[in-house]
Amino acid sequence: MDATFFDTAAAALPKTCFDSPPACGLILGSGWSQALSAGEPLVRLPYRAIPGLGASTVVGHAGEFLCFERHGIRIAAFLGRRHWYEGAGWGPVVLPVELLRRMGVRNLLITNAAGGIRSSLKPGDLMLIRDHINTVGISPLTGPVMPGWGPRFPDQSAVYHPGLSGLLRMAAHDTGVSLSDGIYAFTSGPGYETPAEIRAYAGMGADAVGMSTVPEATVANAAGMRTAGLCCITNMAAGISGPHLSHGEVLAQTQATAPVMTALLDAFLAHLAASPNA
Ligand code: HPA
Repeated sequence: MDATFFDTAAAALPKTCFDSPPACGLILGSGWSQALSAGEPLVRLPYRAIPGLGASTVVGHAGEFLCFERHGIRIAAFLGRRHWYEGAGWGPVVLPVELLRRMGVRNLLITNAAGGIRSSLKPGDLMLIRDHINTVGISPLTGPVMPGWGPRFPDQSAVYHPGLSGLLRMAAHDTGVSLSDGIYAFTSGPGYETPAEIRAYAGMGADAVGMSTVPEATVANAAGMRTAGLCCITNMAAGISGPHLSHGEVLAQTQATAPVMTALLDAFLAHLAASPNA
């Protein structure tokens, strides 16, 4: 992964993507794409048309880039993500962040599906990410310092921006959606965790667990983007309830929660449009 990798991908995007900086970037994970009200987009591109991104190998990930206007602001959205466990390295995982940065995006919302660890969470709940634990111990910032990604040793004291997260809280209040916050533990996947691992992560202070988001948030923070993270709790993590975990169960829960996700996402965009940071 070097600057040429990103240059090639950026060159494949229509010029429209770069003619006016989007007020918001979105990277939507498992089951979240169905929650987006995009209307008639200005740009619609399948991931396979973006070199380096390629089609996701994961069921439930739409694999489409959209640029559209909503509430009077421009939004650039990646529907579906690539994961570390797909084995193609960090490039495809963080490419959406770098493309959004090159478009001039300053506000980024990243969503995912996650397993609940904290006992007060239940499937169908939405949780704002307050901070994260990278249990994988490897970073997409490894390697040469990329232009635009800040210093060699970026500060990570506030990866998730309180102001942007505050807009999600306001959106939740408006729409009557209950929204807690918590610590998200990132694991490499693709296996779900063992009950012993979940007990260990609980001891470390994790409230939820998943296989994404942290790489993108790490790069976005280093690049100076205001970043927020939002989980749909689709199941309780291994050993907390139920004898088995499956991706089918994860997708079924995101489908059941879709009306709530839709209301929250749209209200968030409305709040952002009204904010001075749009
Ligand atoms: N663990 C890891 N990733 C997940 C889970 C889980 O329990 N649920 C949804 N994504």
